Amino acid sequence: MRDTRPTSEFHAPNISVDSTARLVGALDAQDVNNGVHRLRSWAHSALTVRPGERALDIGAGTGSQTRNLAAAVGPQGRVLGLEPNPGLRAVAEQRAAEAGSSARFADGDALSLPLPDSTVDVVWCERVLQHLAEPEKAVVEIARVLRPGGRVALLDTDWATTILHPGDPETVAALTSGALSAAADPYSGRKLVGRLTAAGLVIDDRGSQALLQDHTSVAWPLIRMMAESAIRRGLLGEAQRDGLYEELAEAARKGGLHMSVTMFGAVAHRPA
Ligand SMILES: C[S@@+](CC[C@H](N)C(=O)[O-])C[C@H]1O[C@@H](n2cnc3c(N)ncnc32)[C@H](O)[C@@H]1O
Repeated sequence: MRDTRPTSEFHAPNISVDSTARLVGALDAQDVNNGVHRLRSWAHSALTVRPGERALDIGAGTGSQTRNLAAAVGPQGRVLGLEPNPGLRAVAEQRAAEAGSSARFADGDALSLPLPDSTVDVVWCERVLQHLAEPEKAVVEIARVLRPGGRVALLDTDWATTILHPGDPETVAALTSGALSAAADPYSGRKLVGRLTAAGLVIDDRGSQALLQDHTSVAWPLIRMMAESAIRRGLLGEAQRDGLYEELAEAARKGGLHMSVTMFGAVAHRPA
């Protein structure tokens, strides 16, 4: 029988102390991706965080956006980053201290936010819903803690938008299906607006960016993660995988590789 549990190490039940360095490496690589940078810039300007506000970053990771929020609220404001992975939380705390940031971090679960009702001005939640067993419950929690008029930015990947070229389309489809099975909700990106609306929030703006990988080098950690997941589920054979790896490496050598996945964002507010 096939194992259909999410394999991503960002999925809270899969947290392991051994994975911290790998996860930090993955998040740092995404931090410098142009598409991530552009989508974050759009979301921060749509949120218009003001000095003195109280902000919450759910699933803060290494805290890069928690620090951005802390800079925006200034010394009169307060920012909390919730991060259930102790290894990532320690890195976020260390980086905030080194940067002289007022961002604070705590353990916490998106499905049961450790905050009273109507106490938060701004919520940031990036690439977290895809890792949750009950993402819609997390959005209801966000609506609960926001004060009337409070704003939220939800950003997430939609793994069904993964494009990989070159390669036989069937082999590529089998490999990219590995990305679908890694996340708890791989289609999270397309569901953001519906989830916010269902929780009673009002949509203010929407955005998207294709995250393009370098066309001259294969993103091997990501490709291997997808291939291993697809092989484990019996969707891809080892010979197929090896043939595709050769094609991708050759394309990268010639500067003709295409690899991308699309991230979506929605900014909404709680009606007064
Ligand atoms: C892909 S990372 C994104 C980190 C950060 N938001 C960013 O965009 O750089 C997903 C994050 O969600 C966190 N996470 C997983 N399950 C969670 C849960 N139930 N509640 C809160 N955070 C969770 C992970 O520990 C990880 O830091």
